[in-house]
Amino acid sequence: MTDTTLAAKLHLPQRPRRLRRTAAIRDLVEETSLRKQDFVFPIFVHERQSPPEEVASMPGIFRYAVDDAVRECAALQSLGIQAIDLFGIPDVKSDDGRESYNSDGIIQRAIKAIKREVPDLCIMTDVALDPFTTHGHDGLVSNGKILNDETVEVLCKMSVSHAAAGADFVAPSDMMDGRIGAIREALDIAGFEDTGIMAYAAKYASAFYGPFRDAMNSAPKFGDKKTYQMNPANAEEALREVELDLAEGADIVMVKPALAYLDVIRRVKENFNAPVAAYNVSGEYSMIKAAAAKGWIDERRAMMEILLSIKRAGADIIFTYFAKDAAKLL
Ligand code: PBG
Repeated sequence: MTDTTLAAKLHLPQRPRRLRRTAAIRDLVEETSLRKQDFVFPIFVHERQSPPEEVASMPGIFRYAVDDAVRECAALQSLGIQAIDLFGIPDVKSDDGRESYNSDGIIQRAIKAIKREVPDLCIMTDVALDPFTTHGHDGLVSNGKILNDETVEVLCKMSVSHAAAGADFVAPSDMMDGRIGAIREALDIAGFEDTGIMAYAAKYASAFYGPFRDAMNSAPKFGDKKTYQMNPANAEEALREVELDLAEGADIVMVKPALAYLDVIRRVKENFNAPVAAYNVSGEYSMIKAAAAKGWIDERRAMMEILLSIKRAGADIIFTYFAKDAAKLL
C-alpha cells in the first residue's frame, strides 16, 4: 500500500494550494479587499411626514422624510460610510418636470438639511427627470420622442439647484447626449466650479431597475428607455460614452448595472485613467434578498462575494444598497 502511495506522489515545483493552507496565508496573498470608504449608499427621500416606509421589493430599504434621512445619514457616518446618492421623490409631477429645479423641492431641502447636520458626508444627487415627469421618462417628450437638447437645458437648471443647496457631486443618470459638458459649463458660470460630476457614462437599458422604479414610483408610462439607455449587447459603445463624458468634464465615470457588466467595468478601468464607479442596482439587491428569505442562499456571503467581484473587476467606487450591511461586516 505504501509503495502505491509513493508512486502516486507528484513532483510539482508549484503547488498553488500551499498559498491556501491557513487563514493567515490566505490573507497575506489576498489581491482585492473592500473598504467601507468604497461604498456610496443610495437614499430615497419623499415629502411625506410619515415614519420610514419600507420598499416592498427592496427589504431593508426605506423612503424617508427629510428629518429621518438626516438621522439615517448620521447613522451611516458612524458606520464609516462617507458618501450617499440622494434620490428625491416629489409630490408634484408635470410634463415639463419643472419641480426638478425648484430651490425648495424635496431633494434640494434634503441636501440642505443633511449638509447642515452631517457636513462631512459626501452628497451626490441624482440628476434625471423621471421622478418629476408625468410620463416617467428621463427627458422631455414630444410626440412620443424623448427630446435631447431641450432636456439638457432642464438638467442644467436642476444641477445648479443641487449645487446651490450644497451637493458635492451631481450625478446625471439620464443618458442624454452632451449633458456633461453643458452641466459643467452651467455649474462653472453659476460659480460652482468645485461641484463635481459623477457621470452615469455607460448606463444600460436593464431589467434590473424594476425595484428602484417601485421605490420611486417612476416607471415609464409608455415605451421603454432604449433610445437613450444603452443596448446590453454593446461594450465598445460604452468606451465611446466614457470617452465623451470625460472629455466633457466628468470627474468620475460609472458603469451601471454592475453584475451583468463586469467586463465593461474592467474595460473602462483599463482604458481610462479616471475613477470608475459601478452601481450594484436594485434588482441585483432584491434577487439576493429574495433568495436569502427563502433560505436558498447565504445572504452575507453572497453579498460580500458580489461586492468583491465588482471591486475586482475594476470599480473604485461601489453604489450599493448593501453598504450598511457590508460595512458592519468589515
Ligand atoms: C433614473 C435612475 C434609475 C436608476 C438610477 N437612476 C432607473 C432608470 O433609469 O430607470 C436605477 C437604480 C437602481 O435600479 O437601483 N434615471
